[in-house]
Amino acid sequence: MQQALKAAHLKRGLTSPNPWVGAVVVRDGQIVGEGATMPAGGEHAEAQALASAKSGDTLYVTLEPCTPFPGKRTRPCVEAITEAGINRVVIALLDSDPRVRGRGITLLREAGVQIEIGDGAAEAQTLLRPYLKHRETGSPYVIAKFAATLDGRIATAEGDSQWLTGEPARERAHRQRNWVDSVLVGSGTAIADDPSLTARPNGRTMARQPLRVILDGRGRLSPEARMFQEPGRTLIATSYEANSVWKARLATAGAQIVECEQSSRGLNLNQLLATLAQRGVLSVWAEGGGTVLGSLFDGDHVDEVWAFLAPSIIGGSGIAAVGGKGVTRATDALRLRESTVEMVGEDILVRGYTGAWSPQPQ
Ligand SMILES: NC(=O)c1ccc[n+]([C@@H]2O[C@H](COP(=O)([O-])OP(=O)(O)OC[C@H]3O[C@@H](n4cnc5c(N)ncnc54)[C@H](OP(=O)(O)O)[C@@H]3O)[C@@H](O)[C@H]2O)c1
Repeated sequence: MQQALKAAHLKRGLTSPNPWVGAVVVRDGQIVGEGATMPAGGEHAEAQALASAKSGDTLYVTLEPCTPFPGKRTRPCVEAITEAGINRVVIALLDSDPRVRGRGITLLREAGVQIEIGDGAAEAQTLLRPYLKHRETGSPYVIAKFAATLDGRIATAEGDSQWLTGEPARERAHRQRNWVDSVLVGSGTAIADDPSLTARPNGRTMARQPLRVILDGRGRLSPEARMFQEPGRTLIATSYEANSVWKARLATAGAQIVECEQSSRGLNLNQLLATLAQRGVLSVWAEGGGTVLGSLFDGDHVDEVWAFLAPSIIGGSGIAAVGGKGVTRATDALRLRESTVEMVGEDILVRGYTGAWSPQPQ
């Protein structure tokens, strides 16, 4: 199962909106085949592992094998498994997709296959969090990322934020952009920083780029913005009322325009996140600024936090990492779960889950 989990990890995020799954075929105690999910529409992990093995007696797989359902593009894995003569399947995790959950196991058992569930379940669940949340809730998995000083500022009062953290922290963020489905920022950041919002691990601009999502209710972003010259798609979330000439100009620059309800608190994030999920976005890497992160935390949309803290102080009225309403009592402060702390160059990375959503118990 560890080998299957490794294979799945290498495909993390690359198979959206399908889950990234790994599988290993064993014959007489020896690994004879291995596979991992191909990009959507391609072969699944089980089919690949079985094809590479020719024959085997046991299949280890990180997620419940898929079953037939209307509109399915690939061959159901339960069929491939039974036809290959596998007599034992070890499954880390039950699928959260209601079209599959439990049915994969039932169909295999009916075909006389022995099933074991739970080996590697915790690792598989951690690896698949974006997929599991998407299928369970119809909303993408949101990771809030910011780079702040020790006094919690992400920029000076004048809006200068480049660069608070060092190269290793920025490299780490690029590696994250490299697997998520989307990178989200507010118009404040898009205008102040004119960012490209591309994944550039080790300085290399990757062929696969996350969808850029900009929250711009009043229609302020210029069609000349740098991001429109960069590889990858850009989605501008705006209000129904925003200027239609501006919308047309941004569409000509290459943006997809998505209209949402707008209130005094900004664009309706429930609506936007549901729209992103419907478009197959499983994960949102929300990079700020403080106003947008404040709204995401206030609305309980954030699932995971990546806070890079630089050993420096801005002071004055620098921009807070998380704005919004916040809480009134210190005891109500959001406390991260399963948090970890590590040094990244000279900066400190604090990570953890918010608990706004947790995977269903198995
Ligand atoms: N160090 C870091 O990690 C980091 C990261 C990002 C940014 N920054 C810095 O942060 C500063 C920008 O932050 P900011 O707080 O001023 O702006 P921001 O959060 O980037 O953008 C806020 C704007 O987004 C739009 N918006 C639309 N819907 C929203 C909603 N539901 N909730 C919140 N906002 C919504 C609003 O503008 P409309 O009314 O136009 O829709 C709002 O004013 C810049 O100086 C940038 O350099 C630092």
